Amino acid sequence: METLECIKSRRSVRKFLDIPVEAEKLSNILEAAQNAPCAGNLQEWKFILVTDKPARQKVAEACLEQYWISSAPLVIIACSDPSKPKKFYDEAGERFAIMDASAAVENMLLAVHDQGLASCWVSGFEEEMLRREFNIPDSVFIIAVLPIGYPDEKVPVPPKLTLENITFISSYGNRVKDIAAYMEWYGEHVQKVIKKGKELVKKFVKKLGE
Ligand SMILES: Cc1cc2nc3c(=O)[nH]c(=O)nc-3n(C[C@H](O)[C@H](O)[C@H](O)COP(=O)(O)O)c2cc1C
Repeated sequence: METLECIKSRRSVRKFLDIPVEAEKLSNILEAAQNAPCAGNLQEWKFILVTDKPARQKVAEACLEQYWISSAPLVIIACSDPSKPKKFYDEAGERFAIMDASAAVENMLLAVHDQGLASCWVSGFEEEMLRREFNIPDSVFIIAVLPIGYPDEKVPVPPKLTLENITFISSYGNRVKDIAAYMEWYGEHVQKVIKKGKELVKKFVKKLGE
């Protein structure tokens, strides 16, 4: 699947077929996480793989009784230990730990979708319950629970904010009124820059020949 197509067509799925996830696909999902960007390449992310049914049911309970979660044959609990990032970056280390693991989670969601599987980022959970059931230390952040499996539902695109709503030009709050008009202007601007660059190269080559 093309990368952009994968990003745009990924949806949160909450109903799964009773078919296990192949080992090769799971490896690809973990490798996608492994290759996420991260602050200082510290790679402070950890993943708990949960496959047996009673444990998946415990996850569902801990996730505020979202019982659909246990229908997924595989659940990954994504965690991040901020202790190393904090040593390198002081206070910012905590934020970086969350950001790193979040980037890894998005990579995983895309690898899931790219391989014909489906998932849903779940962060509605009772932390203490997850810690207790899966031995997660108090010092470690729980970033997301990812139920993964073959989809048993087709999910429509949920309402999305417009690009005009989420895009500012040069300064926070400076909205684009018409994104299509802006893109037209931007395209022309890029063409001008390219033309100028080509002219400079031509001049340079001509000078070299003199
Ligand atoms: C931080 C975060 C927490 C979320 N928690 C839950 C959750 O607890 N339960 C759930 O069903 N979906 C959860 N979602 C999924 C969102 O509801 C979903 O991504 C959003 O509605 C957009 O839909 P889409 O993923 O299909 O584009 C969460 C997503 C994020 C990023």
